[in-house]
Amino acid sequence: MSSIAILAGDGIGPEVMQEAKKVLAAVADKFNFPLSTQDYDVGGCAIDNHGEALPASTVKGCEQADAILFGSVGGPKWENLPPTEQPERCALLGLRGHFELFCNMRPATLQPALASLSTLRSDIASSGFDVLVMRELTGDIYFGQPKGRKGEGEEESGFDTMIYSRKEIRRIARLAFQAAQKRNNKVTSVDKANVLATSILWREVVNEVAQDYPDVALEHLYVDNAAMQLVRDPNQFDVMLCPNLFGDILSDICAMITGSMGMLPSASLNSSGFGMYEPAGGSAPDIAGQGIANPIAQILSAALMLRYSLNQGAAADAIEAAVAKALDEGVLTADLLPAEQKHLAKRTAEVGDFICQAIQAAPA
Ligand code: NAD
Ligand code: IPM
Ligand code: MN
Repeated sequence: MSSIAILAGDGIGPEVMQEAKKVLAAVADKFNFPLSTQDYDVGGCAIDNHGEALPASTVKGCEQADAILFGSVGGPKWENLPPTEQPERCALLGLRGHFELFCNMRPATLQPALASLSTLRSDIASSGFDVLVMRELTGDIYFGQPKGRKGEGEEESGFDTMIYSRKEIRRIARLAFQAAQKRNNKVTSVDKANVLATSILWREVVNEVAQDYPDVALEHLYVDNAAMQLVRDPNQFDVMLCPNLFGDILSDICAMITGSMGMLPSASLNSSGFGMYEPAGGSAPDIAGQGIANPIAQILSAALMLRYSLNQGAAADAIEAAVAKALDEGVLTADLLPAEQKHLAKRTAEVGDFICQAIQAAPA
């Protein structure tokens, strides 16, 4: 029996997680595999209930599980806490660091049904978009030490350390080339090698790794150009290999190219293949509690979990097909619709229900 640690978190986290749980139950039933889920507090709600964002009991539950399905953490209620106690830093980066989840994959695909709703010009949106962002997740300026503040008054300064070792760059680069071999054989490595020492090393190591994958085309882009190219001609990309910070920023652009922040799932894996799965977006305090959040990123994250951690590829395919059907048939939350069509929007639970029904109705 596979066991999943469910960490719904804050804001829209519990709302979209509810739908992902329904979908997991639907595929477990359809494909006849046993699945047990256990909920744990994380983030702001864990601060409220246990006094800390990442309680030991939550970490233990995750250690004992086969995979973690994570919602999102953070929100206005907790943003004035000291940085080391904040939900994002303590719980999310805490879990990524604890399990050494260095490989973050964010597959962004613009479904044909959504091309006409894109915020990109229609000729650009209709040219297609299918990108895998491979984001390094446990290094860079996020984790580099020292980090902090010093001095006083107008002399006070804040500082972070941007740092990468050859080993850290090499392991994510290898996985990016391997992923490209299973896709369209192209890696775009993103850096700022015209300014940053970490980026010069990044580029050097990526070039070394490329020697082992002669069938994969490699190009290097500066991050500012990469951001521009994504909205100019998104179809030119296949795998985008990114350091932690640049991957964070570029993946939000990728999410929006697919229609909304609520569309982009992610898988974060360590070198033993253990994984945490979560939407790329956050707790969306502006819409939390209204039952209108888009559950698709959470549901597709559950599909990635089935594929990568539970060896249930057919169930993952079924979820992805059911999501495509929802999009094709216009079963859309408000975030995907232009202002004049918002009145047609479906609620979070309606989208989840449609996807469950599509799974049940599909041929086994
Ligand atoms: P956000 O991703 O939460 O929201 C940005 C915008 O996207 C908002 O307008 C929001 O309504 C919209 N959006 C996001 N997900 C959506 C969905 N599923 N359906 C419909 N609309 C959606 O980013 P933010 O506002 O910068 O951050 C809010 C909080 O979330 C902060 O505390 C931030 O630190 C946290 N955060 C957490 C995670 C995580 O837990 N993985 C990720 C990003 C941000
Ligand atoms: C993400 C989020 C996180 C990140 C934050 C909440 C720490 O934006 O997963 O993209 O920057 O990695
Ligand atoms: Mn982000």
